[in-house]
Amino acid sequence: MSDKKPSSDLPEGSPITRRIEDGVETFEAVIQGETIQWDKGLTYGRHLQTDQLLSSQVPVSDKPDEMLFIIMHQTMELWIKLMLHEVREAIVALRADELGKAGKTLDRTATIMRHMIHSWEVLATLSPHDFLTFRGFLRKASGFQSHQYRELEFLLGLKRPDLILVHHDNGEATEQLKQVLQEPSLYDEVLAALARGGRDIPEGKLKRDWSEPYEPSDAVEDAWLAIYTDPDQHWELYTLGEKVTALEYYFQEWRFKHMKTVSRVIGHKHGTGGSSGVNYLVKALDLNFFPELWSMRTRMNAPKEGGDYSQCPVS
Ligand code: HEM
Repeated sequence: MSDKKPSSDLPEGSPITRRIEDGVETFEAVIQGETIQWDKGLTYGRHLQTDQLLSSQVPVSDKPDEMLFIIMHQTMELWIKLMLHEVREAIVALRADELGKAGKTLDRTATIMRHMIHSWEVLATLSPHDFLTFRGFLRKASGFQSHQYRELEFLLGLKRPDLILVHHDNGEATEQLKQVLQEPSLYDEVLAALARGGRDIPEGKLKRDWSEPYEPSDAVEDAWLAIYTDPDQHWELYTLGEKVTALEYYFQEWRFKHMKTVSRVIGHKHGTGGSSGVNYLVKALDLNFFPELWSMRTRMNAPKEGGDYSQCPVS
């Protein structure tokens, strides 16, 4: 129900009209030929907390290029937050054996990662000179200290408890990381779904101390190999395997673009976080979330090696 009534606090002749709609003060004006409406209940800014968001860019230097650096990190942190949310949704779906639903969420997560990969291009416009104008102001601040990034690594399946140390003075982040460390990861949940789907997964992979780093297993590799050798028979698990693989594929590409951008901006200098810099980031390229999904591929064979050339036309 809407009752139109003239505005008391709007100036005489104002192009804005006011009415009460569902008990909420609602406004309307014709702007550029369109009837635009807004109300005092939920506005864009209140919903998205834009005031808070847009006042969170606080440079520590007076150098103009620091703004790019801040916004690049902040946007990536937001995307990582969304990925954490989506991966958790995928885990809920997996536990309920809703593999299609899990797959959709994993697709979205991989798409976010691809978007982040493209966004390195923006940061690549930061020349070594641009960065050096404010690098000294950053002191020891580094992406190495991103607790969300570490949480994402843990949640996907890469458990490295010693990395929690750098958050020792952030109780909340430490607690969160410890909790994720002790819970089954996405990969653990995928293996549980495989077991429920009739695949032979060792008991030790289905019940274990989840905080321990995952150790690759021949039996799990065999299970994936069987699924990939006959996709038609195992279509749901096969597509799940491919979606999970895509996630790691794009994660690695993100790592690679980060490493290349860093090498373009600081060469082989040490990082502000104290590591060997590019060398540290190159080592990270060998990290794995879902090891058997990769190792199994080497063992796959074409049904008939060499093919049957007897039917080829002879020229
Ligand atoms: C010019 C821009 C950048 C430079 C020069 C840079 C440099 C580095 C370096 C050298 C490291 C190794 C740790 C250290 O010693 O500091 C590192 C780690 C890291 N950086 Fe960046 N980075 C840049 C931009 C970004 C952005 C935009 C993000 C987005 C969140 C990011 C996220 C990370 C993360 C998560 C790590 C930890 C990686 C791991 O432990 O595997 N970096 N960065």
